[in-house]
Amino acid sequence: MPLNDFPALSVDSSRLPRHVAIVMDGNGRWARGHGLPRHEGHRRGKDSVRAVVEAARELGIPYLTLFAFSNENWHRPSTEVSFLMQLFHRYLITETKRLMKRDIRVVALGETDRLPPRVRQALAATVEATRDNRTMTVAIALSYGGRQDVVNAVKAIAQSVADGKLSPDEIDEQTVARELTTGGLPDPDLLIRTSGELRISNFFLFQLAYTELYFTDTLWPDFRERDFLAALAAYQLRERRFGAVSNGADHPLRAQN
Ligand code: FPP
Repeated sequence: MPLNDFPALSVDSSRLPRHVAIVMDGNGRWARGHGLPRHEGHRRGKDSVRAVVEAARELGIPYLTLFAFSNENWHRPSTEVSFLMQLFHRYLITETKRLMKRDIRVVALGETDRLPPRVRQALAATVEATRDNRTMTVAIALSYGGRQDVVNAVKAIAQSVADGKLSPDEIDEQTVARELTTGGLPDPDLLIRTSGELRISNFFLFQLAYTELYFTDTLWPDFRERDFLAALAAYQLRERRFGAVSNGADHPLRAQN
């Protein structure tokens, strides 16, 4: 359904978040609620991914991150992990043409070397094929953990210090931000988590410092354009102060937004 068919949820296109990150949760509960096996929830969750990517693209949101698989998710039953890997593979194979047509660049976040070779190769092919697309960036976090991200950044910085390329005095927030898997992406302005869970669950830890958090009871497989617009409308009602006062001197982070 075209976005302008939701007039009640109109959003101000001049004040959109630059980067929206989403923790897509509730696939299993959606399936259980419909008397279906868990994997049916994941399968339907893929349709929500397409709907939200297209809505964000149509609205002109330049960055969208999808938390698709956490480091902790490796501990799920092997049949579920295999199904998810197959689903990601299928998504990458079938969706790349569509992403190209819409000028969408895909980047991968996380410890993607832990993915099965087939998924890794499909991911690398999609990233490569879409690398020059400019209208929007979709970041897919696969095998991602916020703490591991920070640990990996610390290791890289320690190595630069050990190699004599960097002095400890030179390390600042930008140094750390650059070494995170998100290096090069702006911090999210808005985090959406579906399914009523009120946790960060080891998602972006450093990156969420000033992010507006939006939680909804809607389960991910039911989350579509209307729900995305509702999240954006709620975001636009927030006053972002970045730790400063309402009408006080501008904080440098506010100037970026
Ligand atoms: C969390 O729901 C969801 C996941 C672990 C997988 C996310 C994957 C998708 C949405 C599929 C498509 C994604 C892409 C990028 C093509 P859960 O299983 O933890 O649900 P529960 O908490 O209700 O059990």
